[in-house]
Amino acid sequence: MNAAIRAVTRTAINNDIAVKGIFRGYKGLISGEIIPFKTQNVSNIIQQGGTILKTARCQEFMTPEGRELAHETLVREEIDALVVIGGDGSLTGARIFAQEFNFPVVGLPGTIDNDLFGTDTTIGYDTALNTIVEAVDKIRDTATSHDRLFFIEVMGRDAGFLALNGAIASGAEAAIIPEISTEVDQLAELIQNGFRKTKNSSIVLVAESELTGGAIHLAERVKREYPEYDVRVTILGHLQRGGSPSASDRILASRVGEAAILALLEDQRNVMIGIQNDQIVYVPFSKAIKNDKPINRELLRTLRTLSI
Ligand code: F6P
Repeated sequence: MNAAIRAVTRTAINNDIAVKGIFRGYKGLISGEIIPFKTQNVSNIIQQGGTILKTARCQEFMTPEGRELAHETLVREEIDALVVIGGDGSLTGARIFAQEFNFPVVGLPGTIDNDLFGTDTTIGYDTALNTIVEAVDKIRDTATSHDRLFFIEVMGRDAGFLALNGAIASGAEAAIIPEISTEVDQLAELIQNGFRKTKNSSIVLVAESELTGGAIHLAERVKREYPEYDVRVTILGHLQRGGSPSASDRILASRVGEAAILALLEDQRNVMIGIQNDQIVYVPFSKAIKNDKPINRELLRTLRTLSI
């Protein structure tokens, strides 16, 4: 996110546009937590995790009264366009606000979940994926030494991108993901297909979601239904949301951040900046939010093929 903030700020300044930083997202927009941003405000931040602007969940912005207050702040601060960085919730808020007040808003896809339609990848996803791989590599030592079955729960809200690609990248045996939870009992399928044919230990990545039930629930099922396995659970949690961003994330954030200002200069509004096949694209908010981004089912086959 910091790389995106830096890119937005510096592209605007390069185009003689003044920039203001709004702290704590919509919360700071309502309360007026805003300061002018110069190029030095964004120095030395590209390598930092988190966001120098801080962030917050804001219930008030979900109400018309809250959004009215936010609009008053923008008028008072003489701000005439807004760049919003965030996931589904932030961009849904951006869309409603832009429509209600006919205000120019451009969004940047910022979520580790990678679940925004219209962009191949989202800011933070690659870094989180790399963190998962590093963690799984370490857990594997215990799994192998003790001949255990590990369920490792990763984030993703209701999307399996982190679990599925994390599983391929870490050489895990399987991924249990929400996208196919309604189609098959993934745990039963896994065990009945004899997933430990050639090895004594196994690692299964589980996407957190009501649909998968989560790692704890699956481990309890194994204890009940397949007591021959020595099962353990690790929940990676917020580990996945921090740390210095990967090179890919920094480049992605820099490109979409620059593109946000260029889009506003072209009079684009109510769009999310995405990247498809290495090209910048403008995705209407309505499309980015409303559509579920599908997982690539070929990856399921790849994982299955390689985990024998
Ligand atoms: O949406 C991003 C995300 O990281 C999800 O994967 C996760 O469920 C959630 O945020 C965690 O949110 P919080 O930090 O509020 O617990």
